[in-house]
Amino acid sequence: MEKTKIAVLVSGGGTNLQALIDAQKTGILHSGKIELVISNKADAYALTRAENAGIKTATVIKKNCASAMDFENKILSVLDENGIELIILAGFMSILSEHFTSKYPKRILNVHPSLIPSFCGEGFYGLRVHEAALNYGVKVTGATVHYVNEITDGGEIILQKAVEIKEGDTPEVLQKRVMEEAEWILLPRAAELVSEKIQSEK
Ligand code: GAR
Repeated sequence: MEKTKIAVLVSGGGTNLQALIDAQKTGILHSGKIELVISNKADAYALTRAENAGIKTATVIKKNCASAMDFENKILSVLDENGIELIILAGFMSILSEHFTSKYPKRILNVHPSLIPSFCGEGFYGLRVHEAALNYGVKVTGATVHYVNEITDGGEIILQKAVEIKEGDTPEVLQKRVMEEAEWILLPRAAELVSEKIQSEK
């Protein structure tokens, strides 16, 4: 059966992209194939990871676009040209509007580094999420993989995993633990679950 065609959208280091690439190698991700990586930052290390794995890349920079809608339309055309069926936001630091999300209902996944509905929504991304969790003083945090809709971090939850906060944690230390213990495990699993679902519906 033909594999679900996946595009991964990135902005930074791409460790979650790497987890997906590794999951393809080990077979944890077998119902879908990463066909394309799109970055909104020209210098994202995630692009190097994609190239090293022989995956096609594209870069779309917002400030080079006429408008926010033009930025989204450019991404949409690359997705369309490549016949993409599932979009995975893996550290993609730009919020997609309803114009974009409505075109892929239950076909866009995001990984967020907290237990939604805590520490999520606009302004909560990357290290800021961990800073907020530490400032609040919660003793448990984690990661969430969810479908993306028009509400920032508001789509249906697919998988979640809790991670312990330890005495003396800095945002950086906590970020690493959440990635290792939750994100890099959950994202490939969710990618497989949804890829399999799309495949079975063909
Ligand atoms: C990850 O922790 C991801 O969950 C987070 O950014 C980091 C990207 O790291 N995403 C968000 O905060 C989205 N709201 P990576 O580039 O190494 O995968």
